[in-house]
Amino acid sequence: MLGIILAAGRGSRFKSALPKVIHPLLGKPMVYFPYEALVKGLNPERVGIIIGHRKEVVREVLKNLPKVEFFEQENPKGGTADAVLKAKPLLERYRDDYVAILNGDTPLITAETLRAGFEKVKAESLDGLIFTAELENPKGYGRIVRDEKGRVRAIVEEKDATPEERKIKEVNGGVYIFKVQPLLEALEEVKPSERTGELYLTEVVRIFHQRGYRVDTLKVQREELLGVNDRVQFAEVEKILLRRKIEELQRSGVTVRLPETVYIEWDVRVGEDTEIEPSVSLKGNTEIGKNSFIGKGSILEDTRVGEGVKVLPYSYISDSEIQSGAVVGPYARIRNGSVIGERAEIGNFVEVKKSSVGRETKAKHLTYIGDATIGEKTNIGAGTVFANYDGVNKYQTYVGNNVFIGSNSLIIAPRKLGDWSFIAGGSVVNKDIPEGALAISRAKLKILEGKNPLLGREGKNEK
Ligand code: UD1
Ligand code: MG
Repeated sequence: MLGIILAAGRGSRFKSALPKVIHPLLGKPMVYFPYEALVKGLNPERVGIIIGHRKEVVREVLKNLPKVEFFEQENPKGGTADAVLKAKPLLERYRDDYVAILNGDTPLITAETLRAGFEKVKAESLDGLIFTAELENPKGYGRIVRDEKGRVRAIVEEKDATPEERKIKEVNGGVYIFKVQPLLEALEEVKPSERTGELYLTEVVRIFHQRGYRVDTLKVQREELLGVNDRVQFAEVEKILLRRKIEELQRSGVTVRLPETVYIEWDVRVGEDTEIEPSVSLKGNTEIGKNSFIGKGSILEDTRVGEGVKVLPYSYISDSEIQSGAVVGPYARIRNGSVIGERAEIGNFVEVKKSSVGRETKAKHLTYIGDATIGEKTNIGAGTVFANYDGVNKYQTYVGNNVFIGSNSLIIAPRKLGDWSFIAGGSVVNKDIPEGALAISRAKLKILEGKNPLLGREGKNEK
């Protein structure tokens, strides 16, 4: 079995500088979805991807997919048959086999459906199978035209259809299985459309019918064959993929509250008994362990979360790791490769950048921790700031275990604070602090009796 995916078109109706088929749906390029269905459903030995319009960009996005061979279509307006012909060297290697051909803009087709289609091809010894759907509004799709015996005679593109043909509600979904040998023969005979000059892949079906090859259809749910030609369809398709993704998580034991408000990308993994509150976004390569809680409005991007973690509402975590039992937020910002250790607590309005925070360490309020390595069981008081930048360079701070940093301290990097050191609140720490030491810097507080400068002004003189 061979697979071919058509991804060379411009996607002019999509109106984008980027090729349509690489626009991400749930964080994956659109054309990844037919690829995944193909590989999971039919396990082809090779997948030919036809690229053309901005081919280097498409190649770059898809280059790590296994089994893929790229073929270039110089004229991305040549049409879908011209596109398939570009993979002729591959088709010739699989002359006695079958090929599944999928449009790159049909991301909702499922592996199960492709498998059912191939079963039908084998059971009924078909030469070709078209995946079709019955649409209330078939606008924009090729129509399935049948002969008097009910066999598929042709697929007629909307632009070329007669008013009668336009009324047909059965449409071509842009997904096909063919026997390779007759397909190769028919492709050579496709004539350009009189209207557009394109070579249509769909013309192959007319040629099969003329030659008496057996072509049939597999009718599938409308949802699976939605083609993405513009951004309205793009949004519709993403919504369906999202519903599928969330249902899969729910079936595997994840609680998702008000799922219609939650956004979870395709590669995200979530463990059993984890709870996701409304308006959460989980993006990229995020993985969340069991029994965790992701509070309302939080955003997690390329982040690993351990087991039993609490991310309280409105926290934004990217490219970081939150280890088991830690509590983060509400309103925490954690970024750039930070690691929050087991049972550590990062609280309200705390920002942690490129830092590691040891287990059971706490920074619970209004703090900035940047470029720091902090040990275990250390306490960082409210309003502490790690000044890591002198306007030119960034510097590191090392804080040991069991350190106490009083509220509103300023730690000027590069700095080392030894184990069991104690920084009194309000200190400016511009020297390294040895283990076990107390550090205190504080301007002397003066108290001037009766000298409140507001006293005596109107309205301020009555006590
Ligand atoms: C196509 C089908 C139509 C079907 C619909 C389903 C043809 C002629 N028509 O129409 O019957 O109902 O899909 O969604 O096939 N592409 C190339 N090279 C080209 C032209 C297109 O690689 O020269 C690729 C595109 O990148 C896209 C796919 O083929 O991924 C389909 O092209 P598109 O222009 O969207 O075809 P439709 O008009 O949707
Ligand atoms: Mg299309």
